[in-house]
Amino acid sequence: VFGKVSKVVCVGAGYVGGPTCAMIAHKCPHITVTVVDMNEVKIAEWNSDKLPIYEPGLDEIVFAARGRNLFFSSDIPKAIAEADLIFISVNTPTKMYGRGKGMAPDLKYVESVSRTIAQYAGGPKIVVEKSTVPVKAAESIGCILREAQKNNENLKFQVLSNPEFLAEGTAMKDLANPDRVLIGGETSVEGLQAVAELVRIYENWVPRDRIITTNTWSSELSKLVANAFLAQRISSINSISAVCEATGADISEVAHAVGYDTRIGCKFLKASVGFGGSCFQKDVLSLVYLCESLNLPQVAEYWQGVIDVNNWQRRRFADKIIAELFNTVTDKKLPSSDSPSRKTPVSHLESFVPLIFQNPFPGDTRESSAIYVIKHLMEEHAKLSIYDPKVQKSQMLNDLASVTSAQDVERLITVETDPYSAARGAHAIVVLTEWDEFVELNYDRIHADMQHPAAIFDGRLILDQKTLRDIGFRTFAIGTAPDQAYNLFGTAGY
Ligand code: UDX
Ligand code: UDX
Ligand code: ADP
Repeated sequence: VFGKVSKVVCVGAGYVGGPTCAMIAHKCPHITVTVVDMNEVKIAEWNSDKLPIYEPGLDEIVFAARGRNLFFSSDIPKAIAEADLIFISVNTPTKMYGRGKGMAPDLKYVESVSRTIAQYAGGPKIVVEKSTVPVKAAESIGCILREAQKNNENLKFQVLSNPEFLAEGTAMKDLANPDRVLIGGETSVEGLQAVAELVRIYENWVPRDRIITTNTWSSELSKLVANAFLAQRISSINSISAVCEATGADISEVAHAVGYDTRIGCKFLKASVGFGGSCFQKDVLSLVYLCESLNLPQVAEYWQGVIDVNNWQRRRFADKIIAELFNTVTDKKLPSSDSPSRKTPVSHLESFVPLIFQNPFPGDTRESSAIYVIKHLMEEHAKLSIYDPKVQKSQMLNDLASVTSAQDVERLITVETDPYSAARGAHAIVVLTEWDEFVELNYDRIHADMQHPAAIFDGRLILDQKTLRDIGFRTFAIGTAPDQAYNLFGTAGY
């Protein structure tokens, strides 16, 4: 039924669709790849000198292949009619209304694309679901396409699941040299034929033994489970970071020792202020929702724990800062405790919070833990100067306004373009991301310009505590016991 694939179309020119199709075009010169999107501005950007997303290595590949065998277009019907194989790579945000609100993936965009495919296909197509929250997506797509097949005997569809495992910041490397490619399909003759066609595309650059084929549900579920396991490792190590702070163990030493067991492995064991990004929370919540729908409350509860620990870790870090600074700073700056001015929302804390997303991925601050830590600090009326070498000021302000309010942002937040100005006059520095730049700053100079005693809260374990303490900073780092000789932090009440 399905001939050799020579024309590939991808619906959705986003973080997944764009880089994936650029890689296919790069590795398969004999295949024409067209990426379409209903957002015409985005398509214009993909056709311009400044691509709408940044990934190291993406520009080179797009600029070389564009106009040769890689095209970006907003003519969706034409692209669908001509395609042999269609990737669906549209967004699947967490549903914010109705059943499954706040947990279930919203499949409305996937469904809308399926209807468009049904309408314009005209002949046999392999449809590949590549959206980020996939469970049950293939079923929904298949349902809509089968309806269309009933009314037109020229139509033949096979729906495959081919989840994407790329991480932001390393997308091109992940695509060029994946640990594995996962393809799920029906086990019927036609299903296997469709799977074989997609395998043939990846075989152009991925060794065959790294291409795994499974049934559709296994493939969809594996994607959720892979992200849930990764998120679980972070919550596991973060939960232990609290034990370290209370006991005198050091989380980096524990992670190193534990990770040396090859059954456990050393990756993804770095304690932090919590995981962020567009996938982990969404996928774990989606798994929780799935288990609830399947009447498996114990499983749902188990995975919900991963999210709960992540939220707790963000809150815990913010609470530590508040406890340390407000207690000490309040005493100094504010009148006695029964004074009415105590109730006024004055800020007696100015800190410097480098807000940045976890990856070198300008523009994408989705679900960044930094935003939540800042939100918690703002709730205490902390005045914050934010410095971020990569994220646009407008984006930061928008992200913050969406979790607090525009007035609070206006009142409490200043965005600085220079780290030294941001730190000037502050009582504390809060490090929320792991930019190399933060390691290389001149902390002698920063310390001299701050209010004293000056504190540093390292939420990413990137700074050398001893050097900072020698300069005169009070320091606090996730998963590290307070050093009584050097700072004022107690372990109690935290
Ligand atoms: C374990 C640890 O392996 C060892 O490092 C530690 O010092 C002591 O505890 P042991 O209990 O002897 O050793 O056996 P192990 O083979 O690790 O299995 C432990 C249990 O987990 C068994 O009941 C095993 O059946 C079960 N298991 C193990 C699984 O159910 N699934 C697995 O994938 C692995
Ligand atoms: C992740 C998965 O890695 C990827 O396979 C999947 O397809 C999408 O989700 P991404 O969100 O882009 O990718 O970034 P990643 O680098 O994996 O980090 C996720 C979050 O976990 C970040 O907030 C990071 O700071 C945090 N993290 C990661 C830790 O806190 N500790 C770690 O050890 C690793
Ligand atoms: P992801 O991270 O999953 O790639 P993005 O939000 O970056 O998600 O990209 C998804 C893209 O899909 C957006 O550019 C959006 O405009 C596009 N899209 C959503 N629905 C449709 C649709 N029905 N037809 C065409 N494009 C769509």
